[in-house]
Amino acid sequence: MDHFFYRENRLFCEQVPLDQIAQAVGTPFYCYSEATLQHHFQVFQQAFTPCSHLICYSVKANSNLAVLDALLRRGAGFDIVSGGELARVQRIGCPPQRVVFSGVGKSASEITAALEYGILLFNVESVGELRRINELAGRLGRRAPIALRINPDVDPQTHPHISTGLRRNKFGIPYQQALALYREAARMPHLDVLGLDCHIGSQLTALEPFVDALRRVLLLLDLLEREGIPLRYLDLGGGLGIPYEDGRLPPHPGLYAGALLAELTNSSFAQRQGTLILEPGRVIAGNAGVLVARVEYVKEGEEKYFVILDAGMNDLIRPALYNAYHAILPVARRFGQEERMTDVVGPICESGDFFAQDRLLPAFQSGDLLAVRSAGAYGFTMSSNYNTRPRVAEVLVRGNQFAVVRRRESLEQLMENESLFPVA
Ligand code: LLP
Repeated sequence: MDHFFYRENRLFCEQVPLDQIAQAVGTPFYCYSEATLQHHFQVFQQAFTPCSHLICYSVKANSNLAVLDALLRRGAGFDIVSGGELARVQRIGCPPQRVVFSGVGKSASEITAALEYGILLFNVESVGELRRINELAGRLGRRAPIALRINPDVDPQTHPHISTGLRRNKFGIPYQQALALYREAARMPHLDVLGLDCHIGSQLTALEPFVDALRRVLLLLDLLEREGIPLRYLDLGGGLGIPYEDGRLPPHPGLYAGALLAELTNSSFAQRQGTLILEPGRVIAGNAGVLVARVEYVKEGEEKYFVILDAGMNDLIRPALYNAYHAILPVARRFGQEERMTDVVGPICESGDFFAQDRLLPAFQSGDLLAVRSAGAYGFTMSSNYNTRPRVAEVLVRGNQFAVVRRRESLEQLMENESLFPVA
């Protein structure tokens, strides 16, 4: 459920028409609905009520401070993967005990900053990282709370670029090595071994891979308990998919939670009242945002009909990178409008610069506004300055009000860190 809808043929975000925002801030811009973000979070949160849990929204999906703040106010914790994301959650005043730190390449300075902040858990992905955290904690005179991220070797049945739980992926600790590494971790003087973590991929549309992975890690939890290493936290990562296309519906968060909780009910982890951690990103933010762009030109090619936007692959790279489908809606719907088979493209000098190919869409004209749907997750956060294009504005809507929560980048900002080679 989201808060984007037509009223009298104008596309609204909550109570604000998108054309009104376009007039005020120019195009392109990302527009997020606060009510949708919070609704998605609450649905997810409530689905896990039967079990002690902490929902750590995955910051990488959409890291705008106003978005993070909207979730913090609903009780979210955060899953971070860099010192930069740590700085963001610190900036919004997130209590450190609601932060988990994932990622295969944590640097010494990132680890130190997180230790000083006092985060809940480091999700550790290699023996090298484990040793580094132990040493840095020792130097600071602190204890580091850790979980090992286990690679359960299950196929998430999603796009290869966003699969992470297979043996051939760089992520996590191989299942077979887990026990030995837990023993080693338990002997390290500056670590508190508190958890087990696993994340198998993103945009999953079936429940079986989640359940398979959970079964595998529950076996390991039992084994560890018998070894005298009982774990307090089980982090099952993120990955639940969202509907991008009509008719292809991934499981509702309620079903997802139901499937996981059913597996957990009789586990010794549940009997010990362990805390479940989840790291959803896309399912919270994806359908809470759109990218609004204006048609610059329409062009009759030899074979194709092109609608050329003022937004490009640098603003939303998902179609180019994953061949991802994003629905495209006119901001003003015209009754009885003719439809055309269309390629919606950007101004960038690459053929991969498209938003839709061979799609039947209303016959757009130069100057029309359109909205690229499901762009709230991995949209702005993956944007770049390719072709020296300033990053677009971000707008948050709350009821009948809107605010620019990230100004459009200026050309000055874009070049401010550059200089010519100094003259001798
Ligand atoms: N936890 C970990 C350790 C992750 O690596 C990820 C996503 C998440 C949680 C959140 O996953 P989600 O609930 O959003 O599926 N750029 C790609 C998606 C990359 C996902 C990377 N990891 C895309 O645009 O589809």
